[in-house]
Amino acid sequence: MHLRTASLLAAAGASLAAAEGHQARQATPTGTDAWAAAHSKAAAALARLSQNDKINIVTGVGWDKGPCVGNTPPINAINYPQLCLQDGPTGIRFATSVNAFAPGIQAGSTWDVELIRQRGSYIAAEAKGLGIHVLLGPAPGALGKIPNAGRNWEGFGADPYLQGIASAVTIEAIQAQGVQAVAKHYLANEQERNRETMSSNVDDRTMHELYLWPFADSVHSNVASIMCSYNKLNGTWACENDKILNGILKNELGFPGYVVSDWNAQHSTNAAAINGMDLTMPGSDFNGRNVLWGPALNQAVNNNQVPRSRLDDMVKRILAGWYLLGQDRGYPAINLRANVQANHKENVRAVARDGIVLLKNSGILPLNKPKKIALFGSAAVVNPRGRNACVDRGCNEGALGMGWGSGTVEFPYFVAPADAINERARSDGTQVSVQATDSTSGVSNVASGADVAIVVITANSGEGYITVQGNAGDRVNLDPWHNGNQLVQAVAQASQNVIVVVHSTGPIVLETIQALPNVKAIVWAGLGSQENGNALVDVLYGLVSPSGKLPYTIGKSQSDYGTSVASGNDDFREGLYVDYRHFDSKNIAPRYEFGFGLSYTNFTYSDITVDSTAKAGPATGKTIPGGREDLFETVATVTASITNSGGVEGAEVAQLYITLPSGAPPAPPRQLRGFDKIKLKQGAKGTVTFNLRRKDLSYWDVRTQNWIVPSGSFGIGVGASSRDIRLTGTISAA
Ligand code: NOJ
Repeated sequence: MHLRTASLLAAAGASLAAAEGHQARQATPTGTDAWAAAHSKAAAALARLSQNDKINIVTGVGWDKGPCVGNTPPINAINYPQLCLQDGPTGIRFATSVNAFAPGIQAGSTWDVELIRQRGSYIAAEAKGLGIHVLLGPAPGALGKIPNAGRNWEGFGADPYLQGIASAVTIEAIQAQGVQAVAKHYLANEQERNRETMSSNVDDRTMHELYLWPFADSVHSNVASIMCSYNKLNGTWACENDKILNGILKNELGFPGYVVSDWNAQHSTNAAAINGMDLTMPGSDFNGRNVLWGPALNQAVNNNQVPRSRLDDMVKRILAGWYLLGQDRGYPAINLRANVQANHKENVRAVARDGIVLLKNSGILPLNKPKKIALFGSAAVVNPRGRNACVDRGCNEGALGMGWGSGTVEFPYFVAPADAINERARSDGTQVSVQATDSTSGVSNVASGADVAIVVITANSGEGYITVQGNAGDRVNLDPWHNGNQLVQAVAQASQNVIVVVHSTGPIVLETIQALPNVKAIVWAGLGSQENGNALVDVLYGLVSPSGKLPYTIGKSQSDYGTSVASGNDDFREGLYVDYRHFDSKNIAPRYEFGFGLSYTNFTYSDITVDSTAKAGPATGKTIPGGREDLFETVATVTASITNSGGVEGAEVAQLYITLPSGAPPAPPRQLRGFDKIKLKQGAKGTVTFNLRRKDLSYWDVRTQNWIVPSGSFGIGVGASSRDIRLTGTISAA
């Protein structure tokens, strides 16, 4: 019996109660059958198509030539619509009346599977309402191996397991609404610099255990499509890479859907076709030229340079995605101006709030009717030029809700920290003085007489086609923007009760701020999108106890991460040792470790149980979507009791890390293989459950090209972060 209560946001229908079984999630039992049925419908449709129809199905109409960012023409013979593909992972880009959802990294930061599921479901409901067939998200690659890489915020965190679970539930939720999901960017697209020319050179084991991992979970969740990335993988363009498209994705992972190119990531007519790409987008380059399929593919097929069977296979895969989601049975017409917002903002607020991580609190939070608050920083107010003043959010003026690039959405409204704090202050009778600049002059005047000073600082990043304040997508360093350190220093000279609020796309180095004794609290507020201020107030005033945990490590210096943006090709020399895997193996103390987060209450851990049937040896199952079937079977279940031993209700994210047996190939000291978020009233006790799949206990053996459970004794650690292990156990596999 679980003592879980309804979610923090019952009105949004979000519940933690169902979360415990999430690690055991499998493809729906009918998953493979559903694909088989979709493929047989696709085969029947294929028979009614001319070669010209087929070419049209696999070729976008060209950049800026249709209502969506990607379009193919309608095919009347089979009532196939003008297909609409639209960004993206944060909600619907270029639409007028949608919600700007909290970004993937904030969703990852909640570690709340049901909130993540609801987020996916609401994004997809908006997509469907606008007639969008194919949603270009989620984005589990970039994995986040480089802390300052531009697009890490579009995904769920710097760990393959977290990315895999969050992507899988997002895809299930999107597709349950009847919308095709696209997992992107495949593969190892870890930085913006030179993304269209560089090669990511990744060894086979690292590829499988880190970068491929979330894509395997995505395929297992029956994702309709995978987007091949701009970069080369081991010297060959990702969109014409036989090894990763035909070999790994379609063969090893049994992917029944279609590979869509990233926009203009195709480099050849024949090689792309033969080596596994199925749909070219947008169909031309961004100048409307360089059409590599269309007539060129037609000719290549006629000349037998591309087998006719390969063209048929592309078409079947694309149509199968359409049939799989039932889009042949009545689908809304495309209208990106429809209002589809419904009550979805409740999820934006819940994710924005529950993704906030409390890093430091020397008793100053939660606030209790302060008499006067002084609020500092340009990020405390909405961009004075307008909340959507910058195309694709490509600037960093005013409050920060998301990074920039194709993964953005127009904000329908924006509640900045000053808006929400002022509103709360009115009901509390608190006086608020705001200095909405990053200038250090005048700080002491504004701070004078305030019982608390709140400083809002930011760090931003995005996609490389926009450069913001010298940051060409990737951040140039891990410092706060706009001289945030100096602003905090100035405020800390003027006030003894400083709260630093950070809105950021990824880690920043906090050492300067950390060293100031007057900084009594650090609130890592992440990216709260349109609900930025409301979410902050919910936490600052203790309407909820903070319950987010870091989805990446906050190091003491940038060099501590052991990775950086490559200037040419990237050889991925760090191998398996990214983020906390690197800090742990090199014994580097981070400032705040992966998985860390404080609360207004306390949780005690007790009573670990371990139940295992795990057998050593290779996976032997038949291939289903995602890989060998037995990889997805639960082979061990670990439970633990959590007691809320503090003073208020709260939610705890319990995490499970494994250590491979001593005889196994070298591996990171600890690897996340389970998490469970549980909400508990004061004094209440509940159980967290971790179901470990065979794959969670396996390493990739490059010699036999298979996943192997090593024999021996696995270390199991259950705790409150990657470095706060409260309970240990073992699993032995013989
Ligand atoms: C390029 C981006 O890399 C991709 O994520 C996006 O979906 C396409 N542009 C379309 O906007």
